[in-house]
Amino acid sequence: AGVKGTTTERTFIAVKPDGVQRGLVGEVISRFERRGYKLVGLKLLVPSKALVEQHYGDLKGRPFFNGLVDYMSNGKAPVVGMVWQGKDVIRQGRKLLGATNPLDSEPGTLRADYCTAVGRNCFHGSDSHEAATTEISLWFGEKAVFDWKQALEPWIA
Ligand code: PPS
Repeated sequence: AGVKGTTTERTFIAVKPDGVQRGLVGEVISRFERRGYKLVGLKLLVPSKALVEQHYGDLKGRPFFNGLVDYMSNGKAPVVGMVWQGKDVIRQGRKLLGATNPLDSEPGTLRADYCTAVGRNCFHGSDSHEAATTEISLWFGEKAVFDWKQALEPWIA
């Protein structure tokens, strides 16, 4: 996931099926773009059960695990996966999304603005550099991520 703390740092952000259903894809892209992050990976897919089980591997055994896997992979709506790049994007991305449980999300964050329940919190963001590395390779692989050159040196770089 790039080099931590530099402009090459990368994170995996997903709009989950409820977020896609509610038309929030553009809002997520817009907020990350406006913040100054670079979109280097983007795909829309109905993930397989196996992919979702791997993605949430740490949560196996939790009471909500099967429901979470079904909700992500049942195809009622797709998932939109993104890879964002830029300085501290892993931590800053989590801040833009807000706390996992919308009850704790700060006003102005995506989850506080659009969500009410942890089981339908619309978005996912990698919570560490290790998780970002694993999740980007799981959802994208190296070839599907493209670090394009910006024509003008952005002032935030
Ligand atoms: S942990 O490990 O206890 O800290 O779990 P947490 O970070 O709170 O949540 C991990 C992911 O599980 C999702 N989650 C749920 N999904 C469905 N139903 C329920 N009840 C539920 N509780 C937690 C939570 O949204 C996290 O997924 P992501 O995709 O990272 O938001």
